[in-house]
Amino acid sequence: MSAAQPDTLVAVRIGNAGGVVVGIGQNEMFIASDIPAILEYTRKLVFLESRQMAVVTRAGYFVQTLDKTPVDAAIHEIAWDAVSAARGEYRHFMQKEIFEQGRSLTDTIRGRIDFESGCVTLPDVPLTPEEALRLKRLVTVACGTSAYSGLVGKFLIEKLARIPVEVDYGSEYRYRDPILDSDCAVLAITQSGETVDTLAAMEEAREKGARLWSIVNAIGSQAMRTANGYITMQAGPEIGVASTKAFTASVVDQYLLGLYLGQLRGTLSQAENVEHASALAKLPDLVGKVLDQAPKVAALARKLFHYSDFLYLGRGINYPIALEGALKLKEISYIHAEGYPAGEMKHGPIALIDESMPVLAIAIKDSVYDKMISQIEQAKARRGVVIAIATEGDEFIATKADHVLYVPDVPPLLSPILTVIPLQLLAYYIAVERGCDVDQPRNLAKSVTVE
Ligand code: F6R
Repeated sequence: MSAAQPDTLVAVRIGNAGGVVVGIGQNEMFIASDIPAILEYTRKLVFLESRQMAVVTRAGYFVQTLDKTPVDAAIHEIAWDAVSAARGEYRHFMQKEIFEQGRSLTDTIRGRIDFESGCVTLPDVPLTPEEALRLKRLVTVACGTSAYSGLVGKFLIEKLARIPVEVDYGSEYRYRDPILDSDCAVLAITQSGETVDTLAAMEEAREKGARLWSIVNAIGSQAMRTANGYITMQAGPEIGVASTKAFTASVVDQYLLGLYLGQLRGTLSQAENVEHASALAKLPDLVGKVLDQAPKVAALARKLFHYSDFLYLGRGINYPIALEGALKLKEISYIHAEGYPAGEMKHGPIALIDESMPVLAIAIKDSVYDKMISQIEQAKARRGVVIAIATEGDEFIATKADHVLYVPDVPPLLSPILTVIPLQLLAYYIAVERGCDVDQPRNLAKSVTVE
Protein backbone atom coordinates (compact mmCIF):
# COMPACT_ATOMS: atom_id res chain seq x y z
CA MET A 1 0.00 0.00 0.00
CA SER A 2 1.16 3.51 -0.64
CA ALA A 3 -0.22 6.77 0.73
CA ALA A 4 0.41 8.27 -2.71
CA GLN A 5 -2.04 5.79 -4.30
CA PRO A 6 -4.66 5.11 -1.63
CA ASP A 7 -6.99 3.21 -3.97
CA THR A 8 -4.41 0.65 -5.03
CA LEU A 9 -3.17 -2.55 -3.43
CA VAL A 10 -0.22 -4.49 -4.79
CA ALA A 11 0.19 -8.18 -3.95
CA VAL A 12 3.32 -10.13 -4.87
CA ARG A 13 4.05 -13.79 -4.61
CA ILE A 14 7.65 -14.94 -4.14
CA GLY A 15 8.41 -18.66 -4.08
CA ASN A 16 6.04 -21.56 -4.00
CA ALA A 17 5.30 -21.69 -0.30
CA GLY A 18 2.62 -19.13 0.68
CA GLY A 19 -0.17 -18.49 -1.84
CA VAL A 20 -1.81 -15.26 -3.03
CA VAL A 21 -5.46 -15.28 -4.10
CA VAL A 22 -7.16 -12.31 -5.75
CA GLY A 23 -10.95 -12.30 -5.40
CA ILE A 24 -13.07 -10.47 -7.98
CA GLY A 25 -16.26 -8.99 -6.54
CA GLN A 26 -18.76 -6.44 -7.84
CA ASN A 27 -17.21 -3.02 -7.37
CA GLU A 28 -14.87 -4.58 -4.83
CA MET A 29 -11.76 -6.71 -4.89
CA PHE A 30 -10.06 -8.93 -2.35
CA ILE A 31 -6.60 -10.26 -1.61
CA ALA A 32 -6.05 -13.25 0.67
CA SER A 33 -3.62 -16.08 1.38
CA ASP A 34 -6.33 -18.74 1.29
CA ILE A 35 -9.69 -19.24 -0.39
CA PRO A 36 -12.10 -19.62 2.58
CA ALA A 37 -11.16 -16.17 3.89
CA ILE A 38 -12.94 -14.49 0.97
CA LEU A 39 -15.43 -17.16 -0.13
CA GLU A 40 -18.21 -15.31 1.64
CA TYR A 41 -17.73 -12.37 -0.78
CA THR A 42 -16.83 -13.91 -4.11
CA ARG A 43 -16.22 -17.22 -5.82
CA LYS A 44 -14.30 -15.72 -8.77
CA LEU A 45 -10.64 -16.11 -8.00
CA VAL A 46 -7.25 -15.57 -9.60
CA PHE A 47 -4.16 -17.33 -8.24
CA LEU A 48 -0.73 -15.79 -8.55
CA GLU A 49 2.25 -17.91 -9.49
CA SER A 50 5.70 -17.29 -8.07
CA ARG A 51 7.21 -13.92 -9.07
CA GLN A 52 3.90 -12.56 -10.26
CA MET A 53 2.19 -9.46 -8.92
CA ALA A 54 -1.39 -8.26 -8.94
CA VAL A 55 -2.23 -4.56 -8.94
CA VAL A 56 -5.71 -4.24 -7.53
CA THR A 57 -8.10 -1.29 -7.37
CA ARG A 58 -11.79 -1.20 -6.49
CA ALA A 59 -12.63 -1.34 -10.19
CA GLY A 60 -10.37 -4.17 -11.29
CA TYR A 61 -6.91 -5.64 -11.41
CA PHE A 62 -4.09 -6.68 -13.67
CA VAL A 63 -1.39 -9.29 -13.26
CA GLN A 64 2.21 -9.05 -14.41
CA THR A 65 5.53 -10.66 -13.66
CA LEU A 66 8.05 -8.83 -11.50
CA ASP A 67 9.89 -7.80 -14.68
CA LYS A 68 6.64 -6.26 -15.94
CA THR A 69 5.56 -8.80 -18.57
CA PRO A 70 1.72 -8.82 -18.58
CA VAL A 71 0.16 -12.13 -17.54
CA ASP A 72 -3.21 -13.36 -18.74
CA ALA A 73 -4.14 -15.06 -15.47
CA ALA A 74 -7.08 -17.48 -15.62
CA ILE A 75 -10.14 -16.76 -13.47
CA HIS A 76 -11.26 -19.81 -11.47
CA GLU A 77 -14.90 -20.17 -10.44
CA ILE A 78 -15.09 -21.98 -7.11
CA ALA A 79 -18.15 -24.19 -6.84
CA TRP A 80 -18.36 -24.19 -3.04
CA ASP A 81 -21.77 -23.08 -1.97
CA ALA A 82 -21.70 -20.35 0.66
CA VAL A 83 -24.99 -21.74 1.99
CA SER A 84 -23.43 -25.12 2.67
CA ALA A 85 -20.76 -23.27 4.61
CA ALA A 86 -23.35 -21.85 7.00
CA ARG A 87 -23.81 -23.43 10.40
CA GLY A 88 -27.48 -24.22 9.91
CA GLU A 89 -29.15 -25.94 12.84
CA TYR A 90 -25.87 -26.69 14.63
CA ARG A 91 -24.37 -24.82 17.54
CA HIS A 92 -20.84 -25.06 16.16
CA PHE A 93 -19.25 -25.67 12.77
CA MET A 94 -17.21 -28.50 14.24
CA GLN A 95 -20.40 -30.24 15.37
CA LYS A 96 -21.96 -29.75 11.94
CA GLU A 97 -18.86 -31.07 10.23
CA ILE A 98 -18.72 -34.18 12.43
CA PHE A 99 -22.36 -34.90 11.58
CA GLU A 100 -21.82 -34.29 7.86
CA GLN A 101 -19.45 -37.24 7.56
CA GLY A 102 -22.04 -39.69 6.21
CA ARG A 103 -22.78 -37.34 3.34
CA SER A 104 -19.21 -36.19 2.78
CA LEU A 105 -17.99 -39.77 2.45
CA THR A 106 -20.77 -40.55 -0.03
CA ASP A 107 -19.49 -37.60 -2.09
CA THR A 108 -15.88 -38.75 -1.73
CA ILE A 109 -16.69 -42.23 -3.03
CA ARG A 110 -19.27 -41.24 -5.66
CA GLY A 111 -18.21 -41.64 -9.28
CA ARG A 112 -14.81 -43.06 -8.42
CA ILE A 113 -15.60 -46.72 -8.05
CA ASP A 114 -17.72 -49.09 -10.10
CA PHE A 115 -19.50 -51.16 -7.49
CA GLU A 116 -20.04 -54.10 -9.85
CA SER A 117 -16.47 -54.55 -11.06
CA GLY A 118 -14.75 -52.87 -8.10
CA CYS A 119 -12.77 -50.80 -10.61
CA VAL A 120 -11.48 -47.44 -9.31
CA THR A 121 -10.98 -44.45 -11.60
CA LEU A 122 -8.94 -41.44 -10.56
CA PRO A 123 -8.73 -39.38 -13.77
CA ASP A 124 -6.69 -36.64 -12.11
CA VAL A 125 -3.93 -39.09 -11.12
CA PRO A 126 -2.81 -40.17 -14.60
CA LEU A 127 -0.66 -43.31 -14.42
CA THR A 128 -0.03 -46.24 -16.75
CA PRO A 129 0.29 -49.81 -15.41
CA GLU A 130 4.02 -49.69 -16.36
CA GLU A 131 4.51 -46.49 -14.36
CA ALA A 132 2.62 -47.96 -11.43
CA LEU A 133 4.83 -51.05 -11.50
CA ARG A 134 7.96 -48.90 -11.56
CA LEU A 135 6.94 -47.10 -8.34
CA LYS A 136 9.33 -48.20 -5.62
CA ARG A 137 8.14 -46.06 -2.78
CA LEU A 138 5.49 -43.58 -1.75
CA VAL A 139 6.29 -40.78 0.69
CA THR A 140 3.39 -39.01 2.37
CA VAL A 141 4.02 -35.49 3.66
CA ALA A 142 1.48 -33.60 5.76
CA CYS A 143 0.91 -31.80 9.05
CA GLY A 144 -1.32 -32.32 12.08
CA THR A 145 -4.51 -34.23 11.43
CA SER A 146 -3.58 -34.70 7.78
CA ALA A 147 -0.33 -36.39 8.88
CA TYR A 148 -2.32 -38.82 11.07
CA SER A 149 -4.55 -39.52 8.09
CA GLY A 150 -1.34 -40.32 6.19
CA LEU A 151 -0.35 -42.81 8.91
CA VAL A 152 -3.66 -44.64 8.39
CA GLY A 153 -3.08 -44.44 4.63
CA LYS A 154 0.27 -46.17 5.04
CA PHE A 155 -1.53 -49.29 6.23
CA LEU A 156 -4.08 -49.03 3.42
CA ILE A 157 -1.71 -48.43 0.51
CA GLU A 158 0.90 -50.95 1.66
CA LYS A 159 -1.77 -53.62 2.07
CA LEU A 160 -3.65 -52.92 -1.16
CA ALA A 161 -0.87 -51.94 -3.58
CA ARG A 162 2.17 -53.54 -1.90
CA ILE A 163 4.22 -50.33 -2.16
CA PRO A 164 6.29 -49.27 0.87
CA VAL A 165 4.92 -46.03 2.30
CA GLU A 166 6.83 -43.60 4.50
CA VAL A 167 5.04 -40.77 6.33
CA ASP A 168 6.68 -37.56 7.48
CA TYR A 169 5.69 -34.15 8.76
CA GLY A 170 6.05 -31.45 6.13
CA SER A 171 8.01 -29.37 8.62
CA GLU A 172 10.58 -32.14 9.13
CA TYR A 173 10.80 -33.52 5.62
CA ARG A 174 12.17 -30.41 3.97
CA TYR A 175 15.07 -30.23 6.39
CA ARG A 176 16.39 -33.76 6.16
CA ASP A 177 17.73 -33.86 2.61
CA PRO A 178 15.38 -36.72 1.71
CA ILE A 179 16.36 -39.48 -0.73
CA LEU A 180 14.04 -39.34 -3.73
CA ASP A 181 14.05 -40.08 -7.45
CA SER A 182 11.63 -40.49 -10.32
CA ASP A 183 10.57 -43.96 -9.09
CA CYS A 184 9.18 -42.37 -5.92
CA ALA A 185 5.86 -40.63 -5.58
CA VAL A 186 5.33 -37.97 -2.95
CA LEU A 187 1.77 -37.59 -1.71
CA ALA A 188 0.88 -34.34 0.07
CA ILE A 189 -2.28 -34.46 2.18
CA THR A 190 -3.74 -31.10 3.08
CA GLN A 191 -7.26 -29.93 3.77
CA SER A 192 -6.54 -26.28 3.04
CA GLY A 193 -3.99 -26.95 0.31
CA GLU A 194 -2.12 -23.92 1.65
CA THR A 195 -0.15 -25.24 4.65
CA VAL A 196 3.26 -23.76 4.12
CA ASP A 197 5.24 -26.68 5.60
CA THR A 198 3.44 -29.16 3.35
CA LEU A 199 3.92 -26.92 0.30
CA ALA A 200 7.61 -26.61 1.08
CA ALA A 201 7.93 -30.40 1.33
CA MET A 202 6.22 -30.64 -2.10
CA GLU A 203 8.71 -28.18 -3.47
CA GLU A 204 11.56 -30.30 -2.11
CA ALA A 205 10.04 -33.36 -3.83
CA ARG A 206 9.68 -31.54 -7.14
CA GLU A 207 13.27 -30.39 -7.07
CA LYS A 208 14.41 -33.97 -6.47
CA GLY A 209 12.43 -35.24 -9.47
CA ALA A 210 9.77 -37.31 -7.67
CA ARG A 211 6.26 -37.73 -9.00
CA LEU A 212 4.07 -35.34 -7.02
CA TRP A 213 0.47 -36.03 -5.96
CA SER A 214 -1.86 -34.30 -3.54
CA ILE A 215 -5.04 -35.03 -1.65
CA VAL A 216 -6.77 -31.70 -1.04
CA ASN A 217 -10.11 -30.37 0.08
CA ALA A 218 -9.81 -26.78 -1.08
CA ILE A 219 -10.42 -26.82 -4.82
CA GLY A 220 -8.00 -24.61 -6.71
CA SER A 221 -5.58 -24.45 -3.78
CA GLN A 222 -1.86 -24.33 -4.25
CA ALA A 223 -1.31 -28.00 -3.35
CA MET A 224 -3.83 -28.99 -5.99
CA ARG A 225 -2.44 -26.74 -8.70
CA THR A 226 1.21 -27.59 -8.24
CA ALA A 227 0.93 -31.39 -8.08
CA ASN A 228 1.24 -33.69 -11.14
CA GLY A 229 -1.92 -35.44 -9.96
CA TYR A 230 -4.54 -34.82 -7.30
CA ILE A 231 -7.53 -36.37 -5.57
CA THR A 232 -10.09 -34.05 -4.02
CA MET A 233 -11.62 -34.91 -0.65
CA GLN A 234 -15.12 -33.72 -1.67
CA ALA A 235 -15.83 -32.90 1.98
CA GLY A 236 -17.07 -29.35 1.29
CA PRO A 237 -15.80 -26.34 3.22
CA GLU A 238 -14.39 -27.14 6.65
CA ILE A 239 -14.75 -24.07 8.84
CA GLY A 240 -14.14 -25.38 12.38
CA VAL A 241 -10.46 -25.04 13.16
CA ALA A 242 -10.27 -28.65 14.39
CA SER A 243 -10.28 -30.89 11.33
CA THR A 244 -12.88 -33.70 11.33
CA LYS A 245 -14.62 -34.47 8.04
CA ALA A 246 -11.43 -33.79 6.09
CA PHE A 247 -9.74 -36.53 8.11
CA THR A 248 -12.24 -39.24 7.19
CA ALA A 249 -12.49 -38.02 3.57
CA SER A 250 -8.72 -38.09 3.12
CA VAL A 251 -8.52 -41.59 4.59
CA VAL A 252 -11.13 -42.74 2.07
CA ASP A 253 -9.18 -41.00 -0.71
CA GLN A 254 -6.12 -43.03 0.30
CA TYR A 255 -8.21 -46.19 0.31
CA LEU A 256 -9.22 -45.36 -3.27
CA LEU A 257 -5.62 -44.56 -4.18
CA GLY A 258 -4.50 -47.91 -2.70
CA LEU A 259 -7.13 -49.73 -4.75
CA TYR A 260 -6.24 -47.77 -7.88
CA LEU A 261 -2.52 -48.51 -7.53
CA GLY A 262 -3.27 -52.12 -6.59
CA GLN A 263 -5.40 -52.54 -9.71
CA LEU A 264 -2.72 -51.02 -11.94
CA ARG A 265 -0.02 -53.16 -10.34
CA GLY A 266 -2.09 -56.33 -10.36
CA THR A 267 -1.87 -56.91 -6.61
CA LEU A 268 -5.63 -57.36 -6.18
CA SER A 269 -7.84 -60.09 -7.60
CA GLN A 270 -11.19 -59.32 -9.21
CA ALA A 271 -12.99 -60.82 -6.20
CA GLU A 272 -10.98 -58.65 -3.79
CA ASN A 273 -11.78 -55.51 -5.81
CA VAL A 274 -15.50 -56.26 -5.59
CA GLU A 275 -15.24 -56.98 -1.87
CA HIS A 276 -13.48 -53.67 -1.17
CA ALA A 277 -16.00 -51.79 -3.30
CA SER A 278 -18.95 -53.27 -1.47
CA ALA A 279 -17.38 -52.54 1.95
CA LEU A 280 -16.85 -48.91 0.88
CA ALA A 281 -20.44 -48.64 -0.36
CA LYS A 282 -21.76 -49.55 3.09
CA LEU A 283 -19.50 -47.13 4.92
CA PRO A 284 -21.58 -43.89 4.90
CA ASP A 285 -24.54 -45.72 6.50
CA LEU A 286 -22.33 -47.16 9.20
CA VAL A 287 -20.91 -43.70 9.90
CA GLY A 288 -24.52 -42.61 10.44
CA LYS A 289 -24.97 -45.41 12.98
CA VAL A 290 -21.95 -44.24 14.98
CA LEU A 291 -23.26 -40.67 14.90
CA ASP A 292 -26.59 -41.86 16.32
CA GLN A 293 -24.73 -42.54 19.56
CA ALA A 294 -23.89 -38.86 20.04
CA PRO A 295 -26.20 -38.49 23.10
CA LYS A 296 -24.36 -41.34 24.81
CA VAL A 297 -21.01 -39.68 24.07
CA ALA A 298 -22.34 -36.35 25.37
CA ALA A 299 -23.39 -38.05 28.64
CA LEU A 300 -19.93 -39.59 28.96
CA ALA A 301 -18.33 -36.18 28.36
CA ARG A 302 -20.24 -34.85 31.36
CA LYS A 303 -18.50 -37.49 33.49
CA LEU A 304 -15.04 -36.84 32.09
CA PHE A 305 -14.70 -33.13 31.39
CA HIS A 306 -13.04 -32.25 34.71
CA TYR A 307 -9.98 -34.51 34.23
CA SER A 308 -6.80 -32.77 33.20
CA ASP A 309 -4.82 -35.58 31.50
CA PHE A 310 -5.88 -38.33 29.11
CA LEU A 311 -4.00 -41.22 27.52
CA TYR A 312 -5.19 -42.61 24.16
CA LEU A 313 -4.05 -46.10 23.16
CA GLY A 314 -4.41 -47.99 19.89
CA ARG A 315 -2.52 -50.53 17.85
CA GLY A 316 -1.92 -51.20 14.18
CA ILE A 317 -4.13 -49.18 11.89
CA ASN A 318 -5.91 -47.73 14.93
CA TYR A 319 -2.72 -46.36 16.49
CA PRO A 320 -2.97 -43.18 14.36
CA ILE A 321 -6.55 -42.87 15.64
CA ALA A 322 -5.18 -42.70 19.20
CA LEU A 323 -2.96 -39.82 18.02
CA GLU A 324 -5.86 -38.10 16.29
CA GLY A 325 -8.23 -38.54 19.26
CA ALA A 326 -5.66 -37.01 21.59
CA LEU A 327 -4.99 -34.13 19.17
CA LYS A 328 -8.71 -33.31 18.94
CA LEU A 329 -9.06 -33.21 22.71
CA LYS A 330 -6.02 -31.03 23.35
CA GLU A 331 -6.80 -28.57 20.55
CA ILE A 332 -10.31 -27.64 21.57
CA SER A 333 -10.56 -28.38 25.30
CA TYR A 334 -6.97 -27.51 26.32
CA ILE A 335 -6.73 -30.79 28.21
CA HIS A 336 -3.37 -32.51 28.09
CA ALA A 337 -3.76 -35.70 26.04
CA GLU A 338 -1.25 -38.14 24.60
CA GLY A 339 -1.67 -40.79 21.95
CA TYR A 340 0.49 -43.91 22.19
CA PRO A 341 0.84 -47.24 20.42
CA ALA A 342 -0.60 -49.49 23.14
CA GLY A 343 2.39 -51.84 23.10
CA GLU A 344 4.62 -48.95 24.15
CA MET A 345 2.67 -48.37 27.37
CA LYS A 346 4.96 -50.61 29.39
CA HIS A 347 8.00 -48.70 28.14
CA GLY A 348 7.09 -45.50 29.97
CA PRO A 349 3.57 -44.07 29.96
CA ILE A 350 2.28 -46.73 32.36
CA ALA A 351 4.05 -44.76 35.09
CA LEU A 352 1.44 -42.02 34.61
CA ILE A 353 -1.65 -44.15 35.15
CA ASP A 354 -3.71 -43.71 38.31
CA GLU A 355 -7.31 -42.75 39.10
CA SER A 356 -6.72 -39.22 37.77
CA MET A 357 -5.76 -40.37 34.25
CA PRO A 358 -8.56 -41.67 32.01
CA VAL A 359 -7.35 -44.13 29.35
CA LEU A 360 -9.08 -44.29 25.98
CA ALA A 361 -8.45 -47.70 24.43
CA ILE A 362 -9.41 -48.49 20.84
CA ALA A 363 -10.05 -52.22 21.14
CA ILE A 364 -12.07 -53.43 18.19
CA LYS A 365 -12.27 -57.11 17.20
CA ASP A 366 -9.18 -57.40 15.04
CA SER A 367 -5.89 -59.28 15.17
CA VAL A 368 -4.63 -57.26 18.17
CA TYR A 369 -7.84 -57.42 20.23
CA ASP A 370 -6.42 -59.76 22.92
CA LYS A 371 -3.39 -57.53 23.29
CA MET A 372 -5.63 -54.49 23.77
CA ILE A 373 -7.64 -56.34 26.43
CA SER A 374 -4.45 -57.03 28.33
CA GLN A 375 -3.52 -53.30 28.15
CA ILE A 376 -6.95 -52.44 29.53
CA GLU A 377 -6.39 -54.90 32.42
CA GLN A 378 -3.07 -53.28 33.16
CA ALA A 379 -4.60 -49.80 33.20
CA LYS A 380 -7.40 -51.01 35.49
CA ALA A 381 -4.88 -52.65 37.83
CA ARG A 382 -3.45 -49.14 38.32
CA ARG A 383 -6.91 -47.67 39.03
CA GLY A 384 -7.14 -45.91 35.64
CA VAL A 385 -10.61 -45.01 34.30
CA VAL A 386 -10.88 -46.94 31.03
CA ILE A 387 -13.10 -45.95 28.11
CA ALA A 388 -13.07 -48.55 25.33
CA ILE A 389 -14.02 -48.07 21.69
CA ALA A 390 -15.21 -51.57 20.81
CA THR A 391 -17.00 -53.63 18.17
CA GLU A 392 -20.79 -53.86 18.42
CA GLY A 393 -21.81 -57.06 20.16
CA ASP A 394 -18.62 -57.33 22.25
CA GLU A 395 -20.11 -57.78 25.70
CA PHE A 396 -16.94 -59.17 27.21
CA ILE A 397 -15.17 -55.82 26.99
CA ALA A 398 -17.89 -54.23 29.13
CA THR A 399 -16.70 -56.44 32.00
CA LYS A 400 -13.20 -54.97 31.65
CA ALA A 401 -13.66 -51.25 30.85
CA ASP A 402 -15.57 -48.60 32.84
CA HIS A 403 -17.32 -47.22 29.76
CA VAL A 404 -17.74 -48.63 26.24
CA LEU A 405 -18.61 -46.83 23.00
CA TYR A 406 -19.49 -49.25 20.22
CA VAL A 407 -18.85 -49.05 16.47
CA PRO A 408 -20.26 -51.45 13.84
CA ASP A 409 -18.16 -54.40 12.73
CA VAL A 410 -16.30 -53.58 9.48
CA PRO A 411 -13.22 -55.02 7.73
CA PRO A 412 -10.19 -53.87 9.80
CA LEU A 413 -8.89 -51.62 7.00
CA LEU A 414 -12.02 -49.50 7.24
CA SER A 415 -12.23 -49.48 11.02
CA PRO A 416 -10.32 -46.17 11.61
CA ILE A 417 -13.05 -44.27 9.78
CA LEU A 418 -15.55 -45.47 12.39
CA THR A 419 -13.37 -45.48 15.52
CA VAL A 420 -12.33 -41.86 15.03
CA ILE A 421 -15.91 -40.59 15.17
CA PRO A 422 -16.65 -41.27 18.89
CA LEU A 423 -13.31 -39.61 19.66
CA GLN A 424 -14.23 -36.51 17.63
CA LEU A 425 -17.58 -36.37 19.42
CA LEU A 426 -16.00 -36.88 22.84
CA ALA A 427 -13.51 -34.05 22.28
CA TYR A 428 -16.34 -31.83 21.06
CA TYR A 429 -18.67 -32.47 23.99
CA ILE A 430 -15.89 -32.19 26.58
CA ALA A 431 -14.87 -28.81 25.09
CA VAL A 432 -18.51 -27.65 25.20
CA GLU A 433 -18.81 -28.75 28.86
CA ARG A 434 -15.68 -26.74 29.66
CA GLY A 435 -17.11 -23.66 27.93
CA CYS A 436 -14.34 -23.52 25.32
CA ASP A 437 -14.58 -21.72 22.00
CA VAL A 438 -14.85 -24.88 19.92
CA ASP A 439 -14.62 -23.37 16.45
CA GLN A 440 -11.86 -20.86 17.21
CA PRO A 441 -9.57 -22.46 19.78
CA ARG A 442 -6.91 -20.20 21.22
CA ASN A 443 -3.56 -19.89 19.42
CA LEU A 444 -4.69 -21.93 16.38
CA ALA A 445 -5.44 -20.93 12.77
CA LYS A 446 -7.36 -22.88 10.16
CA SER A 447 -4.68 -22.52 7.50
CA VAL A 448 -1.12 -22.29 8.70
CA THR A 449 0.34 -20.24 5.86
CA VAL A 450 3.44 -19.14 7.77
CA GLU A 451 6.30 -21.26 9.02
C1 F6R B 1 -6.09 -30.41 13.55
C2 F6R B 1 -5.82 -29.38 12.59
C3 F6R B 1 -4.40 -29.16 12.15
C4 F6R B 1 -4.34 -29.36 10.62
C5 F6R B 1 -2.94 -29.03 10.09
C6 F6R B 1 -2.81 -29.32 8.62
O1 F6R B 1 -7.43 -30.47 13.88
O2 F6R B 1 -6.70 -28.75 12.10
O3 F6R B 1 -3.54 -30.03 12.80
O4 F6R B 1 -4.69 -30.69 10.34
O5 F6R B 1 -2.67 -27.67 10.36
O6 F6R B 1 -3.72 -28.57 7.87
P1 F6R B 1 -4.00 -28.92 6.36
O7 F6R B 1 -4.65 -30.25 6.30
O8 F6R B 1 -4.91 -27.80 5.89
O9 F6R B 1 -2.69 -28.91 5.65
